[in-house]
Order: sequence, then structure tokens, then C-alpha cells
Amino acid sequence: MMNNFNFYNPTRIVFGNGQVAKLDELVPKDARVLVLFGGQSARKNGTLDEVITALGNRHIEEFGGIEANPGYSTLMRAVEQIRQNELNYLIAVGGGSVIDGTKFVAAAVQCEGDPWQEILVNHASNIHQALPFGSVLTLPATGSEMNANSVITRYETQEKLAFGSPLVYPVFSILDPTKAYTLPPRQLANGVVDAFTHIMEQYLTYPVNAMVQDRFAEGLLQTLIEIGPSLLESPDDYDLQANFMWTATLALNGLIGAGVPQDWATHMIGHEITALHGLDHAQTLAILLPTVLQEQREKKYAKLLQYAERVWGLNEGTDDTKIDLAITKTRDFFERMGVKTHLTDYQINADAIPVMIKQLAEHGLTQLGEHNDIDLEKSQHILQASL
Ligand code: NZQ
Ligand code: ZN
Repeated sequence: MMNNFNFYNPTRIVFGNGQVAKLDELVPKDARVLVLFGGQSARKNGTLDEVITALGNRHIEEFGGIEANPGYSTLMRAVEQIRQNELNYLIAVGGGSVIDGTKFVAAAVQCEGDPWQEILVNHASNIHQALPFGSVLTLPATGSEMNANSVITRYETQEKLAFGSPLVYPVFSILDPTKAYTLPPRQLANGVVDAFTHIMEQYLTYPVNAMVQDRFAEGLLQTLIEIGPSLLESPDDYDLQANFMWTATLALNGLIGAGVPQDWATHMIGHEITALHGLDHAQTLAILLPTVLQEQREKKYAKLLQYAERVWGLNEGTDDTKIDLAITKTRDFFERMGVKTHLTDYQINADAIPVMIKQLAEHGLTQLGEHNDIDLEKSQHILQASL
């Protein structure tokens, strides 16, 4: 039976070529704006200039340098700038890191107490207000442009923690597929793997007769399988980027996850690998997803079979053979995208596992998965099998 759900997503999506100009209509005329961005890509590609031009004669300030896996101390400098200059509207120009970072900043500006403790450790449970913000997406991957989640890294303590709050849905997100034309293969591949895994975290659990969510998820997975390799060849193909961008957004805007059990073990264990070893988010997913599917095979059996038959069209042989092949095809797809799928491919060996387990314990991540049955021992198995 489908779970009860309460689905609300207030983010306006403005999609298509040339839509950055719409900022003028989307942002209040009297807003005092901080435009947040990452390293150099937004400036180099001209997207930043386009944003500034579209904002016209509003009071505009810039904050650059948000790193991939956005860092707490960097973001606290943005908070300082906002407080000092009484800014009241944020615009994120970038990928998941800049958008996630902006969400944290939006929540931290009016936070009483220590923002790390209040927002990340206490999951924003005592946060009652946040600054409004919009985003201009340059990297399809995380879905951050249409959800209320954010993942922040504290480099000093090697911690990467997530929070979610309805207060940090973007007011709007501009999805212009041409802004992703300049993505290098590594980021394109990361984006495809991340979006793919988001769908799997919500789809590949156990059946609850959620026919639409299942078919929708299967369609999104098949779209990524179909367009992923071609995107690497032709990143400046409008149709490919447009479909990729919309798929990645739909993968994690709450729609396919409404009313169904969700896993997220791959993500939670993956965050510890990134925090400790600096791997890209998607690299950790490519390593862990195939092993999580294998290790949880019995409990996921019915959905694995459905995945094999409907997504990969595997109709020959026994159920076990189909499932084996579906897991192999998943791993092969990630490898074909150029993302390696074993810890040892990234020079991480067995002796690194105990620290990861210790961090999972410290962060209370001891009951992961749709059955809450991935305890530390199981996480250890999963990591061992991912070497
Ligand atoms: O810093 P710049 O110079 O801008 O370069 C960026 C960055 O180095 C570059 N890039 C972005 N757009 C580009 C571009 N390069 C050329 N052309 C463009 N158009 O790409 C690099 C990676 O960017 P980043 O934002 O870090 O990537 P992504 O979107 O994959 O975000 C990853 C972060 O999102 C979190 C991850 O944990 C990670 O911290 N996640 C957020 C989620 C959410 N909010 O719901 C869910 C995800 O599961 C994920 O955990
Ligand atoms: Zn992800």
C-alpha cells in the first residue's frame, strides 16, 4: 500500500534558452542582492555577467569562491557580508555546491547561536526564518535547484553533514540548458551518476503499489541511460542538455519519492568517503550503489527484478540471473560514463574503512536504508565489498 504523503514544492522553474534575462521579473525591484558563485566557471562562461546585467540597477554585491563540497568557513564569510551590508536577497549561480551553500547562508544569516550546531547538527529544527533566494543552474546533477536539502562540509573536522528545511526551497530556479554546454566530461559524468542514484534511492526499495512513481522513476532512469554517453560526446547539444537538466531536477524534487519507502544508505556512507578522502560526491555513489544493491539483494529482490525487466529489458533466464545482470549493467553504465566503481581505483584500501565506520557512528548513521537495518557491521560489509 502506498504510504500517506504531504507533497509541497513551491519552487518556480523557468526553463529554456535565454531565460536568465527573466531575473528582472523574478527578483523584487528593491532587493539588495548578493550573487553567490563558485570558482571561475561562472565568470569565465559569461553567465555571471549575464546575471548582473539582468539585475539592472538593483544594489548588487558578489561573493565568489564557494568550493565544490561547499565549506562552512567560506560560507560564514558570505553571512558576514550580508549582515554588514544589509543584503536581503540571494542568487546562486552554479551547481549543487553553490546552491547548497546559498541555502546554508540563507538560513545562517538570522540564526541565533552557532550555525553549524543549529543548522547541520540539529538539522535546522530551531530555524524559523531564512532569506529568500533564487538560482541559475549551471550543472544538472543534485536537484538542489528544486529541493530543500543542502550538504555542507567542515574541512577543519573532516565532516560533511546534510540538512533540510522547507524554508530553503529556492523561490525560483532558472534552468537554461545552454549554461551547461561548458561542463567538462568529469562533471557531466558526475551529474548523470548522481541523478541516476537519486532515482534509485527512491525507487529501488520494496514495492508499495506506487504505479506512477515507479513508471516515472523508470522513465527517468531510461532517459539517463539513453542520453548519458551521447552527452559526453556532444555536451553542446541542446536536446541532450535540456533532457538531462530536466531529468536531474525531477530526480530529486520530491515527486518520485512521494508515498514510497526510500533508502539513501549509498548517499550517507558516500558523504563520509568524501569528507575523509575528498572524492567527488558522484564517485562515492558509483562505488557504493552496486554493492548496496548486492548486499541488500534479498530485501530488495522484488524491485531488483522489476528494475532488471523494465529498465534494462532483461527477460531471459532465471530471476537471479536477471538481477545479477541488472547490477552488472548498472556498474558498467557508471564505468562507461568514465566514473570508476571501486574504492581501490581511488587508492583507498581496507585500512581506511575503520575510520569511515567511526565517523558513521559519530554522526548517528547506524540504522540506514529503507528498513533501518544497515547498521555499522553492514556498512563495514558494504565498504569491504566496494574495495
Ligand atoms: O567552481 P567552479 O569554477 O564554478 O566549477 C564548478 C565545480 O568545480 C564546475 N562547474 C559548474 N558549472 C559549470 C562548471 N564547469 C564548467 N561549466 C559549467 N557550466 O563543476 C564543479 C563541480 O560543481 P559542484 O557544484 O560541486 O557539483 P554538483 O552540482 O555535482 O554538486 C555537488 C554537491 O552537491 C551535494 C554534494 O554532496 C556536493 O557537495 N549534493 C546536494 C544534494 C541536494 N542539495 O539535494 C543532493 C546530492 O545528493 C548531493 O549530496
Ligand atoms: Zn547525490
